[in-house]
Amino acid sequence: MDEASPVDWRPDPSVDRRRAAGPLAFFSDVHGNLPGLRAVLADIDARPGVEALCLGDLVGYGPHPNEAVGLLHERRIPTLMGNYDRGIGLETGECGCVYVTDDQKAEGAASLAWTAGAVTAATRSRLRRLGGHLLIDTPVGLLLAVHASPRRLNEYLFDDRPEASLRRLASEAELEMGAPLRAILFGHTHVPYVRDVPHPTQDRTVTFINDGSAGRPRDGDWRACYALVDAGFSEPGTLAVSFVRVPYDFAALQEALAETSLITTFQGPGTDALEGSPSSQQGVLDEA
Ligand SMILES: [Fe+2]
Repeated sequence: MDEASPVDWRPDPSVDRRRAAGPLAFFSDVHGNLPGLRAVLADIDARPGVEALCLGDLVGYGPHPNEAVGLLHERRIPTLMGNYDRGIGLETGECGCVYVTDDQKAEGAASLAWTAGAVTAATRSRLRRLGGHLLIDTPVGLLLAVHASPRRLNEYLFDDRPEASLRRLASEAELEMGAPLRAILFGHTHVPYVRDVPHPTQDRTVTFINDGSAGRPRDGDWRACYALVDAGFSEPGTLAVSFVRVPYDFAALQEALAETSLITTFQGPGTDALEGSPSSQQGVLDEA
């Protein structure tokens, strides 16, 4: 649907660069779920020396857009712009999302209308100022963080994307950044995965890491998700990636939702097959 859209969904060309001093926790797609965001931040806070970064989509679907934006601002957590953030921040009248079923379309329309009316001028202003790319210097090399893909705010990079396509993306991103990349970190699909992709011309891999969703997971596990990346700090030369699942106050989310005209459906405890499994560290290890 975005092909015909007048909205420019390319990420802002700005590139923030920072050096990581230790392992990193990445999360995205909070989508106005304040209990989910609080649970993720509490879990990260309990890990000494781990730095938090947010890859965007703070608003939409959930009942707490202002609170989510305010909390990340207050905590000074580096945050990128997602497609929904651009839609609401710039008042474009669309979010760049793809809906297939009639139910999804109705849910999406209710979300856009309610969120556009609920956000404050301060929230819109903060959303508009979010950046497009974050380059992170680590002992194993440069990590590039974006919301969805290096070239679009609303491109869905699912884990079944053909390898040739990911190789092209990696190559284009390296050209744009002017440096080799060890990994690309992103979200947007709400389904976490990690995948090593051979570089098109050099004997090395570029690792694609999707951090899932901190507010509205779509992988059958209702708990908030974030990615922990240890880029050579604990073990020299090794990029270790794990996904952390955190339960949150689902009842509080539902109560807040009921006070709005949103018709969003969130998976909750008891509605998925993974209820009762360990609450964190469902690890996937990726060797450098
Ligand atoms: Fe997104």
